[in-house]
Amino acid sequence: MKQLPATLATAVVAMVFSTSALATIDVEAAKDLTQQNNCMQCHGVKKDKDGPSFLKTAERLRGKAGAEEEVLKHLTSGKKIKLADGSTEEHKIVKTIPPKDMAQMKNLAKYILSIQP
Ligand code: HEC
Repeated sequence: MKQLPATLATAVVAMVFSTSALATIDVEAAKDLTQQNNCMQCHGVKKDKDGPSFLKTAERLRGKAGAEEEVLKHLTSGKKIKLADGSTEEHKIVKTIPPKDMAQMKNLAKYILSIQP
């Protein structure tokens, strides 16, 4: 967290580039966001934990209409989830700086959908 400003500056610059150029995915920015939000506590890129792996989500949704919107919904709505120990809690809502930055959220959703086996 100490390096946050530098990381964010990089992410913002990268984001501007990625959205203005070819709408390619900024993998590093997406990974940074998952680190900052502790997503990997419950999701593996390829391994299931409490939540499904990003790969599983990608394989379920890739190429389907509305795939990005469905992922975004998970990132923003805080729906009730069930953990392996049987307890329930609200799914984490992704925090971005600045708050609710849709460009960063969309980049993260695209990244999740891009995971390959
Ligand atoms: C406390 C554990 C936990 C944390 C932290 C967490 N998730 Fe989840 N997540 C889950 C569980 C459990 C599900 C499955 C919920 C369901 O389908 O009802 C889920 C579902 C999802 C889904 C939908 C998967 C699908 O195939 O439908 C996405 C995308 C997702 N999480 C992304 C994230 C991201 C990004 C973060 C970080 C901001 C995050 N999660 C943080 C537990 C967690």
